[in-house]
Amino acid sequence: MSIELVGVIGGGTMGAGIAEVCAKAGSSVLILETKQEYADAAQARIEKSIARGVKAGKLDQAAADAALARVGVTLDMNDFADRDLVIEAAPEIEALKADIFSKLDAIVKREGILASNTSSIPLIKMANATQRPGQVVGIHFFNPVPVMPLVEVVVSLVTAEETVATVTEYVRDTLGKKAVRAGDRAGFIVNALLIPYLLSAVRMFESGYASAEDIDAAMKGGCGYPMGPLTLCDTVGLDIALAAAESMHQEFGEPHMSPPPLLRRMVDAGHLGRKTGQGFYSYK
Ligand SMILES: NC(=O)c1ccc[n+]([C@@H]2O[C@H](COP(=O)([O-])OP(=O)(O)OC[C@H]3O[C@@H](n4cnc5c(N)ncnc54)[C@H](O)[C@@H]3O)[C@@H](O)[C@H]2O)c1
Repeated sequence: MSIELVGVIGGGTMGAGIAEVCAKAGSSVLILETKQEYADAAQARIEKSIARGVKAGKLDQAAADAALARVGVTLDMNDFADRDLVIEAAPEIEALKADIFSKLDAIVKREGILASNTSSIPLIKMANATQRPGQVVGIHFFNPVPVMPLVEVVVSLVTAEETVATVTEYVRDTLGKKAVRAGDRAGFIVNALLIPYLLSAVRMFESGYASAEDIDAAMKGGCGYPMGPLTLCDTVGLDIALAAAESMHQEFGEPHMSPPPLLRRMVDAGHLGRKTGQGFYSYK
């Protein structure tokens, strides 16, 4: 099956980015939002991002106009009946996602594929909410979606290989992203490796063993990483890092996935990193 008509559930940080890359790649995209003001905000975010791309010389005005003309918004899920692929990017709440998948299953044509951009909820929970579990798959993009080249294709125990092949081809050949395949367990590939590393850096800083500046300088200069781990925590958002650690610790129960007290206290204090102006470093 070739994918031409795409639906995106939620036009927030991820949904707007996903809609943008799909539209730029030639797909016709419809975004579902819950309120007109959120739908308008999603459209405005996409327009701004595409305009930035034009300014940076990444696409010309004609391509930008054509991409924008391929993006529509709706408040009615019934408009998704003809979609070949729906990518859900609603908030990370299991009951909400299960409800969305159950409703999508009743509306989207029988051969349509239902995907989730979830970071931590097992795909099987969404698959079980439908009558088409073999056509439910994870498509995990990275933020900011137009910039980050990687997508993790997340395969549950019941995802059909045909679904994996269709989605992987779309991600790789149409969207031009690097696709990797991961099993349906917390952290997939990237967070399973990254989060314990970030937590180790926080623990090292917390113990007073080395300063934040020296920890970051060591990993940049000694390992060739573009950014040190504490700067990366501030960039990702300490709340996001904490949530990822908690979901992996819950799944595996391993000590190195347990969030250190300092991370929890900083989140409690609202020191979430760049987005609040204070994390391991000050951005004020
Ligand atoms: N932000 C990230 O860095 C990141 C990275 C990878 C994956 N994710 C995952 O992507 C998903 C979305 O995250 P986000 O950061 O874009 O969240 P967000 O809060 O920015 O956006 C969520 C959007 O969904 C809309 N929404 C809520 N309920 C809805 C419903 N019933 N129908 C349609 N729209 C609805 C909201 O109005 C909002 O605009 C989550 O599952 C998250 O775990 C996030």
